[in-house]
Amino acid sequence: MLNVSSVLVTGANRGIGLEFVRQLASLEPKISHVIATCRDPDAAEELKSIAKANNNVHILKLDVIDYNSHDAFYAEVEKIVGNSGLDILINNAGIGIVTPLDEVTPEEFMKNYEVNAVGPYVLARKLTPLIKVSQRKLIVAISSTAGSIAVTSAIGGVNFNAFFLLQAALNMLTRTYGDHVKKDGIISVMFCPGWFKTDMGGPNAMLETSFSVSNMIKTISTLNADSSGSFLDHEGKTIQW
Ligand SMILES: NC(=O)c1ccc[n+]([C@@H]2O[C@H](COP(=O)([O-])OP(=O)(O)OC[C@H]3O[C@@H](n4cnc5c(N)ncnc54)[C@H](OP(=O)(O)O)[C@@H]3O)[C@@H](O)[C@H]2O)c1
Repeated sequence: MLNVSSVLVTGANRGIGLEFVRQLASLEPKISHVIATCRDPDAAEELKSIAKANNNVHILKLDVIDYNSHDAFYAEVEKIVGNSGLDILINNAGIGIVTPLDEVTPEEFMKNYEVNAVGPYVLARKLTPLIKVSQRKLIVAISSTAGSIAVTSAIGGVNFNAFFLLQAALNMLTRTYGDHVKKDGIISVMFCPGWFKTDMGGPNAMLETSFSVSNMIKTISTLNADSSGSFLDHEGKTIQW
């Protein structure tokens, strides 16, 4: 049972982020504040209809790499959650530039790096004061098995691309930052949601988004201090680094 009063999900206008908000909004016991962020709230039709049907859903504008907006964003989140702080940050927003390594341009590479690794890290660092004072104190990064050197080496022959490298960077940042804030009681974990049907995953993906998200919510509800620094699949099984 996910007994918390607030969760913030980035990249919540489509794909896995939207599904997180859909499921979190109607979870029992009720979560008081489900903060759903997206780059263009005006165009987020599905998200707006979820918010219309669930008065615990708040839509906030956020581009994770627009660092100049982070102070104002922090103030908006603080206004919503108040003294209870932010129980769970789900760093989900990401892009999937899968140009092979022998063709990827420096610009594509750096864009991938910034959105998938630096942005989520800077956001987690920014929101830490709110997470620190909450009851649950959880930072969740949606990563990928693609970032596992052990797994990608074992399967071999895959079309290695920038996405693989940058998920490894996200893991390193989340793990290292998690160790740094452990003293504050914060638990920081990485999830591979599996290969699922979204714009990024494509129609041939193996999992339905709703299945992966419902498993991750169940796993999140079981996390404790010993879980900190774990790299998990959607069912909560450990993924090798
Ligand atoms: N799909 C898979 O099979 C799969 C597998 C492993 C891991 N993942 C991870 O799961 C997460 C979600 O993937 P998905 O399949 O749901 O992707 P998706 O359908 O492509 O959605 C990506 C989301 O991220 C947002 N986003 C992109 N750049 C952003 C930025 N700079 N600031 C804020 N939001 C931004 C997008 O917003 P806009 O609509 O504004 O572009 C969108 O809401 C990603 O981190 C991905 O790496 C996915």
